[in-house]
Amino acid sequence: MRIGKFITAAAFATLMAASVSGSKAQESVEVLHWWTSGGEAAALNVLKQNLEKQGVTWQDMPVAGGGGGDAMTVLRARVTAGNPPTAVQMLGYDILDWAKEGVLGDLDPVANKEGWDKVIPAALQKFSKYDGHWIAAPVNVHSTNWVWINKAALDAAGGKAPTTWDELVAVLDKMKANGITPLAAGGQAWQEATMFDAVVLSLGNDFYKSAMIDLDPAALGSDKMKEAFDRMAKLRTYVDDNFSGRDWNLASAMVINGQAGMQMMGDWAKGEFLKAGQKPGNDFVCIRFPGTQGSVTFNSDQFVMFKVGADKQNAQLKMASAIEDPGFQSAFNVVKGSVPARTDVPDTAFDDCGKKGMKDLAEANQNGTLFGSMAQGHAAPAAVKNALYDVVDRAFNGELNSQDAVQELVAAVAAAQ
Ligand code: BGC
Repeated sequence: MRIGKFITAAAFATLMAASVSGSKAQESVEVLHWWTSGGEAAALNVLKQNLEKQGVTWQDMPVAGGGGGDAMTVLRARVTAGNPPTAVQMLGYDILDWAKEGVLGDLDPVANKEGWDKVIPAALQKFSKYDGHWIAAPVNVHSTNWVWINKAALDAAGGKAPTTWDELVAVLDKMKANGITPLAAGGQAWQEATMFDAVVLSLGNDFYKSAMIDLDPAALGSDKMKEAFDRMAKLRTYVDDNFSGRDWNLASAMVINGQAGMQMMGDWAKGEFLKAGQKPGNDFVCIRFPGTQGSVTFNSDQFVMFKVGADKQNAQLKMASAIEDPGFQSAFNVVKGSVPARTDVPDTAFDDCGKKGMKDLAEANQNGTLFGSMAQGHAAPAAVKNALYDVVDRAFNGELNSQDAVQELVAAVAAAQ
């Protein structure tokens, strides 16, 4: 009798424990993302810890590769197998493509309650909403027309940050003469295309818009586009011969340790400098790609929630709400190198590059010089983006001269639409 009672009590305790951990296990999110570098992992941790504090367990599903190409391949396989992750990092037109397939969840309950409409800019809402409903929670705004320069290398090259293409070439020449690799780059199509965004923009706002956003064949096939490929070929001459396949964060590391002078990359690169303990102004300098001052080519990482069982929906809404929390937006983006996706987050916690990023974004938005990044999926759907990746990659690797690249680009973009 006594033993029986004891067993019953013990069994009851076990049952209770199981049901507590069971309810905790239900509050979990499986997150597919490509934040695998040191700086990215540090930023991701801010989100992970925030959710864990709220009792939401984090199941990590990392797939490396900027622009998310490989992550999107894995995602397709998961959805096809009927087993989508709960939340997925995604960019621009990819979000809308998935929305069209009718497989995304609905974030309206939390978005409407928290008034996202009023604080998330229209340029981001274009990708966070479909058919009037919220389908994604934007976590940041990155931009691609930045250059990250090693301060000591710049000082040794005259100390003046370049503001025009000719000044840029002069600084790169000096760095070469000083015996370092002037330009750190990774030979992966998405990285080359990220540089190409800035190079095209440096030839004019109207040109960027007609070629990259409107996909106007006349702009794509123009002399200006030939000049863009000529500029890319010129930049290639400043890159070391081991660039093929190099990851972007390894290129950042070359600038961080002084082996290279500069990197042309989105502001996720800043996350690597910060992670290495470097400070803007002291150890590195951030400038807009020469000739693109006043304009911004942006991308926004958003977390897209897939349709999942009712048991997981609450955790999805908690995650979405955590992402849009103004305090989180500040804490996360300070580490990530990006700027907040909300317009009401103060810039106080941000370093000088972050403050500049926020100011540039607001001004570009105001002045009509804010453009979606082609390389980062915010100018055109994936088919067009991939067509451009291919041509830019072949040209950068010397397989196409500028004239042929222009012709191939016109044909490839037309075929992809
Ligand atoms: C994302 C960034 C990321 C970068 C490199 C971009 O596509 O928007 O958040 O840091 O890729 O992985």
